Amino acid sequence: MNIKNAQKLRMCCVIGVLGLFGSEIVIAAERDPLKPRVPDGELAAAQKMANPVASSPDTIAKGKGLYEGKGTCTKCHGPKGMGDGPLSKNLKPSPRTLTNAEWQKARTDGEMFWVIKNGSPGTGMVTLIPSDINEEEAWTIIHYVRTLKAN
Ligand code: HEC
Repeated sequence: MNIKNAQKLRMCCVIGVLGLFGSEIVIAAERDPLKPRVPDGELAAAQKMANPVASSPDTIAKGKGLYEGKGTCTKCHGPKGMGDGPLSKNLKPSPRTLTNAEWQKARTDGEMFWVIKNGSPGTGMVTLIPSDINEEEAWTIIHYVRTLKAN
């Protein structure tokens, strides 16, 4: 093989490896973000649950602290809610992109609360109450999650 062909071969290998790496990232996609995660029988009740914590600059700031701190949300959902936290690479389906405006509109605070409390079975979203946070803290974090919505 002459040098030119050897260089071509090397180039193909590099592109091939990059391609494999790329598809690995693409496989870990979100699964139907708009499909409710609360089971049918509990959905109506969950949707009706009102957030008992009032939204204010103070509770939003507290929620941010909990999201990034003991709530551990940022580890999977990422600091800006893009679904790109350090643990997200190993998760299939990948964590919800919390900035998704369509998804935000489709979910009530009660539905989000249900998932934080019960998890989304078969995914990396595990129940975080009471292991990491209590119920009031979850409702507080939801006020912060609302501020992540993209326009
Ligand atoms: C270990 C990783 C991990 C952590 C920690 C985590 N999540 Fe998630 N989260 C996920 C994954 C994965 C999904 C997608 C589940 C699915 O598609 O059903 C998800 C989904 C969600 C959803 C979407 C539910 C819906 O109805 O669409 C919300 C809301 C959410 N997480 C909030 C949080 C909050 C708030 C925290 C912190 C208190 C948190 N998550 C911590 C991995 C995580």
